[in-house]
Amino acid sequence: MNYIGSKKSLLKFLEESIYKIVGKKDFDFLDLFAGTGIVGQHFKERGHKIIANDLQYYSYVLNKNYIENHKRLEFKGIEKEINKIKNININNRAEFVCEYLDNIDYIEGFIYKNYCLGGTKNSKYERQYFSDDNGRKTDAIRQKIEDWYKKNIINDNEYYFLLTTLIENIDKVANTASVYGAFLKKLKKSAHTTFNMKPAYFLHNDKKHNVYNEDIEELINKVEGDVLYLDPPYNHRQYAPNYHILETIAKYDNPIVKGKTGLRDYSNQKSKFSQKKEVLNSFNNIIQNAKVKYIFLSYNNEGLMTEQEVKNIMTKRGEYGIFKKEYSRFKADSDDNREHKANSVTEYLHYVICN
Ligand SMILES: C[S@@+](CC[C@H](N)C(=O)[O-])C[C@H]1O[C@@H](n2cnc3c(N)ncnc32)[C@H](O)[C@@H]1O
Repeated sequence: MNYIGSKKSLLKFLEESIYKIVGKKDFDFLDLFAGTGIVGQHFKERGHKIIANDLQYYSYVLNKNYIENHKRLEFKGIEKEINKIKNININNRAEFVCEYLDNIDYIEGFIYKNYCLGGTKNSKYERQYFSDDNGRKTDAIRQKIEDWYKKNIINDNEYYFLLTTLIENIDKVANTASVYGAFLKKLKKSAHTTFNMKPAYFLHNDKKHNVYNEDIEELINKVEGDVLYLDPPYNHRQYAPNYHILETIAKYDNPIVKGKTGLRDYSNQKSKFSQKKEVLNSFNNIIQNAKVKYIFLSYNNEGLMTEQEVKNIMTKRGEYGIFKKEYSRFKADSDDNREHKANSVTEYLHYVICN
């Protein structure tokens, strides 16, 4: 998924830096601002036990699949409902269930009624986050997944796998520039395509992993391990309003939505890491309370905390150090979109070896 602050392009830098300090031994890896889960997944692939967490529920869902799922899904319970699945090889059952969901009848449910043109036509706010068909398909699949789960036809692992598959695929056909803070006036080319339930991948292995959906300031008192990796928001941009529709698809809780963009209430999901007045105090709490041997923090030179402020706080726990990586960011020139200006950003990986 295309995600603000994703570390997809920095995985090599993170891996090399972390191994340089900790060594390649077997350590637990705590990814407590997990977002898409891509960093945890990377270290899961290298054989580490992962503990993941995020404040957003859609992120919890993604991590329940990518991180916590580690065994083949057999969809045994579905035999009661779809007789044909008995003839499907156990290795192909996840794919079979996704194909089945691709072919169920569409429903005009919450997503269609609030975020598609057909459903909002002639109301105060007409919205077009998805094509009508993608909205109806999402409603149908989301309701079927919930129905199966409530009837115990699918287990937790299968439930989060199917939800992740739905979230990843609907996100690819959203009619937005990138995030859900606004939608485009006209359906863009990719938004015309009806999505398919391409199964979400997860790595099979022997380790048990844990995933949480809590505020890190509370969770930090309850978990422990070897390596704590922190990748908080860097600036004032809150994740909740930028991904509100994914949150609603994940929860499917019929929230009251407001205004032009159909925003749900997110007063209990405001991150202190996106608030200048709060960030230093929260960061200090986490660093002081972490029961781990090493702490790593991703941040950059444009974040709310300065390099020196971070250093002062982390140094209180032990031997401090920093890795830096410069990269060029291209910005569209406001006068002429064909011309681009390059400016440089420095990505930091601060660390402390705890006493
Ligand atoms: C920079 S993103 C993480 C990106 C992630 N490493 C990736 O590559 O996809 C920051 C994440 O922190 C989460 N977050 C913000 N405040 C939080 C808090 N107080 N507790 C837990 N998670 C929080 C946001 O929801 C967001 O997903």
